[in-house]
Amino acid sequence: MGLTSTLLASRTLAALTSPHGVDRYLELVNPMWAAREVRARVVSVERETSGEHPVATVTLQPTSTWRGHRAGQYVQVGVEVPGARRTTRCFTISSAASQPGERFTLTVRAHSEGLVSKWLVEQARPGFVVHLSQAQGDFTLNESPATPTNNHLLFITGGSGITPAMSMVRTLLRDGYDGHAGRKVTFLHYARGPEDQIFATELAEIAAADNGVRVVLRHESAGDPLFSAIDLARLVPDFREVDTWVCGPAGLMERVELAYDGSPRLRTERFKAPVVKAGNAEGDVVFSRSGQQVANTGASLLEQAEAAGLTPEFGCRMGICFSCTARKTEGTVRNVLTGEESSLPDEDIRVCVSAPVGDCAVDL
Ligand code: FES
Repeated sequence: MGLTSTLLASRTLAALTSPHGVDRYLELVNPMWAAREVRARVVSVERETSGEHPVATVTLQPTSTWRGHRAGQYVQVGVEVPGARRTTRCFTISSAASQPGERFTLTVRAHSEGLVSKWLVEQARPGFVVHLSQAQGDFTLNESPATPTNNHLLFITGGSGITPAMSMVRTLLRDGYDGHAGRKVTFLHYARGPEDQIFATELAEIAAADNGVRVVLRHESAGDPLFSAIDLARLVPDFREVDTWVCGPAGLMERVELAYDGSPRLRTERFKAPVVKAGNAEGDVVFSRSGQQVANTGASLLEQAEAAGLTPEFGCRMGICFSCTARKTEGTVRNVLTGEESSLPDEDIRVCVSAPVGDCAVDL
């Protein structure tokens, strides 16, 4: 880290610029200057597919604060959507593993309800700036050309779930993956039809090259079979013994998990809102900043605040991004993901995954 970066990231400067922090001031001068936060400039937006839910690949140039990513990781992207506050969502990085400060790509499907995905696919233009977290997640490749083994690697993906596997395969090929040493990759992907196929040209090139990577595309509209253990066993007879990464729609993930029957070789990645386990729906919830009091319904504090007409900040709504963090001043909350309860006073909690147990007060 250079002297300027060290000074900018110092605690003394942070204290002097409190409560906004040095990054708020740097951002005013140049949105690509940052001491601690990570931001990125949109370099290009390329359509991958069209149709009702189009997919685009967005290339981002991050600030020098970006620490790089491992293939298979995701990043939280925050955008200032017109008419809404900053909204954050998680997207898997589709490009090969990156070094600090290096460009990377996100390949995003525009969902009808997805403010951030629609903004990225339909409105983002070169020069626009987005907010980022550092890369996160453990759905990564342990294999690397630096530590070669003869392990067969298997990727099973569906729809836009192809992105982490694509990042891993791109990393292997970029870093000199050597199929001739007996190493093998099988890449099995399911899409609705050829017109929905993301990375179609590149996958065809990978399939045609002599690189030890077998690409198998299954297109529903062409009458190809949906995932089944029998079909997989034809392709990879010992699949339960093969290191496998699966990512895609819930139906595909469930069928694959069933086929693997608890095999520790299977790694899964899903971004799914947690099922809220209702808390003890007694007592009242006080939203102290807005002076509101409501009867506790047992739902998450975020949902109860929204039902009361409040608009707290949120991002993922699944406990990942911390954008919904608020101070609980009184009462007990249950973490709906883990079931753990906490009664500490003056505690920062993620309101999207916290449900009150009895009376509770939160600073919203
Ligand atoms: S909205 Fe992301 S952690 Fe709550």
